[in-house]
Amino acid sequence: MNKKVILSGMRPTGKLHLGHWVGALSNWISLQEKYNCFFMVADWHALMSEYKNPKLIKDITVDNVADWLVFGVDPHRSTIFRQSQVLEHLELFMILSVITPLGWLTRCPTFKEQVKQLKEKDINTYAFLGYPALQASDIVLYKANYVPVGEDQLPHLELSREIVRRFSSLYKKKVFTEPQALLTKVSRLSGLDGRKMSKSYNNYIALDQDDDSLEKKVLGMFTDPARKRKKDPGHPKKCNVFSYYRIINPDLEEDVGDWCTHAKKGCVECKKILLSSIKKFLTPKREEKKEILKDKNKIYDILNRGEAKAKKVASATLREAKKAMKLI
Ligand code: TRP
Repeated sequence: MNKKVILSGMRPTGKLHLGHWVGALSNWISLQEKYNCFFMVADWHALMSEYKNPKLIKDITVDNVADWLVFGVDPHRSTIFRQSQVLEHLELFMILSVITPLGWLTRCPTFKEQVKQLKEKDINTYAFLGYPALQASDIVLYKANYVPVGEDQLPHLELSREIVRRFSSLYKKKVFTEPQALLTKVSRLSGLDGRKMSKSYNNYIALDQDDDSLEKKVLGMFTDPARKRKKDPGHPKKCNVFSYYRIINPDLEEDVGDWCTHAKKGCVECKKILLSSIKKFLTPKREEKKEILKDKNKIYDILNRGEAKAKKVASATLREAKKAMKLI
């Protein structure tokens, strides 16, 4: 039986943190069981926002892929590759750009928002406008049925489907598959300060966070503000620390609720216990990652092999597309 195809990508713009693990990586890992998965380093997409300091992309790519591997992305089962090394992405991007009306891109909510928000990065560029068309190429080259993404990416998925339909109607041939979003119904993990976990807020726990800074970060977290003294009962639902237990150590969730609402343990003690749960989860991965990074060639070997596999699929699809257009 042919497995359905999944494609997803991450932009190598910074270290991966617990938010990435909860929101994407943990999901990728379980999807490998059932699907034929393609996991892509979206380095061209990264360049669109990081072009003023492009040299970081290479190292961040290796660092991110090392995380993928230690947390369980399996290169024997899934195809791991860099977008920039499979040239077909850019060729199809050109083709899709030709058939994508400008209005679809200028009206894309992510475009309007990002240009407003990321003023300091100056992404009001020609390439950035085409972001969703490149993303559509990433997806349809592999005829992906499903694309696991967060809600923020839904407009891009919708555009990808529209571009696929436009191609079929123009050239009277269904070369591409209309991709469906696979909305990750995972609980979200807030940042240490309760806002969205993000590099720019510096409120994250990196997947390879060292013990000392991890301790500072966790013990510095805010708890229920109504609980001033240990003997005051707390409200777990209002406590960010509690929401971390849910993700990191759900077995303790009930106990922690009881410690808090019945004022059995103080917040400092509660955070110390959370700290040790996080350490238990992250420390072995961090050590494994150190080992892997001692020989970066191993990572490049994995990427090269993935890229050869990806290229086979991508070039076959590109050929079909060109044939449908009678370009070849
Ligand atoms: N735009 C995605 C993000 O920022 C990254 C990405 C690029 C992607 N190409 C993709 C995700 C293809 C899914 C499928 O998260």
